[in-house]
Amino acid sequence: MFNERIYNFSAGPSMLPLPVLERAAGELKNFGGTGMSVMEMSHRSKAYQDIFDETKSLMREVLSVPDTHEIIFMQGGATGQFAAVAMNLIGRTGSADYAITGNFSGLAAKEAKKYGTVRVAADTTDIKHTRIPRQSELMLSDDASYFHYCANNTIYGTEWDYVPKAPCPVVSDMSSNILSKPVDIASHGVIYAGVQKNMAPAGMAAVIIDKSLAGHELPFTPTILSYRTAIDKNSMYNTPPTYNIYMLGLVLKWVKEMGGVHGMEELRNERASMLYDFLDNSKMFTGCAEPGSRSKMNVTFRTSSPDLDAAFVKEAASKGLVSLAGHRIVGGMRASIYNAMPVEGVKMLVDFMGEFEARNR
Ligand SMILES: Cc1ncc(COP(=O)(O)O)c(C=O)c1O
Repeated sequence: MFNERIYNFSAGPSMLPLPVLERAAGELKNFGGTGMSVMEMSHRSKAYQDIFDETKSLMREVLSVPDTHEIIFMQGGATGQFAAVAMNLIGRTGSADYAITGNFSGLAAKEAKKYGTVRVAADTTDIKHTRIPRQSELMLSDDASYFHYCANNTIYGTEWDYVPKAPCPVVSDMSSNILSKPVDIASHGVIYAGVQKNMAPAGMAAVIIDKSLAGHELPFTPTILSYRTAIDKNSMYNTPPTYNIYMLGLVLKWVKEMGGVHGMEELRNERASMLYDFLDNSKMFTGCAEPGSRSKMNVTFRTSSPDLDAAFVKEAASKGLVSLAGHRIVGGMRASIYNAMPVEGVKMLVDFMGEFEARNR
C-alpha cells in the first residue's frame, strides 16, 4: 500500500503526467461549466466538438503534421492497426515489405499475411532482436505497397535511430516512442500508435496518414477500419473514444508547456543516459540491446541469474519502483521511461541499482 504516487516503470498502460491527472480530476464532474463530465457528453455536442478540434489541432502543431497528412483516431489499439494498415494499403500492389525487429512487428506481419503477400525486408530473430538493421541491410522490393517498421521495440528495448527509406510509402508503428522526439512525418505514409504509453489512457490508436493513400482498401475491409471513412467522417463514423481524446488533448498541452517534442527529447536523453551510463559501469547488470540500437524509452537489462533478477524486481517494488520485470517472453528487467517518467524516478532507480549491486556482490 502506498499513500503517495510511486514511480511506475510499466511498459503500458504507463504513467501519465501528474499535472494532467490533476487537471482531469478537477474537471471530472463539471467540465468548463457544462455541468457534466466529458465522459457524459454527446460526441455531437458543441462542447465536445471543441475538445475534439482542439486535441487534433494540438497534435498537428506539436508533431508538425503537414497538410498532406490527416490525423484520425481509431479503436482497437495498435493491434487493430496491424489489420487496418494491410487492409487499407496492401491492395495497391498485393504485397508489402516488413522489417521484423521484435514481437509487435512480427505480429503486424503475421496479420498482414491474411490480406496479401508479405516479404521480409529484415529479420533479427536469430540475434534475439538485440540490434536494429541499418538501411543498407534492408531488402526492399520494387513493387511493395508499403514498407512497415516498428520504430521502438517495447519488449526488446531497441529503437530505430533513423527513418528508413523505401521506394514505396513507409509505415511506422510508433506506439512506444511517439511524442518523445521530433519525427519527420512527411517521410511516412502512415504512422500509428496505441496511445497507452506516451499519449493517453489505453483504448485507441492515433493515426497520421498521407491523405493520398486512403481509398485503396480491400473490398471486405470493415467500415470501422477504413481510413477513407475515418478521414471523411473526421473519426466520428461511430462514437469515438471521447474521454481518451480529451485526455490526449491534456497530455498534448502538457507536452507543449514542457517545450514540445524538443523538450521531450532532452528529457528522454537525460533519463536514458543516466540508466545506460550506470549499466555500462556495472559489474552486476548488463544491458540487453546493442549500444547502437538502444531504446531511450524501454531500457532492458538483466543480472547473471533469474533468481537475482526476481529479487531485484521485488525489492525495487517495495521501494516504490514498480513494474520493472521484463516482458514474460524475454525475462530480465525492463524500465519503461516514457515522457511522463520524472527524471527523479530514474535517479532513484539508478541509486537503488547501485545499492542493490553493492549489497549482493
Ligand atoms: C510497439 C507496439 N506495437 C503494438 C502494440 C500493441 O498495442 P495494443 O495493445 O494497443 O494493441 C504494443 C503494445 O505494447 C507495442 O508496444
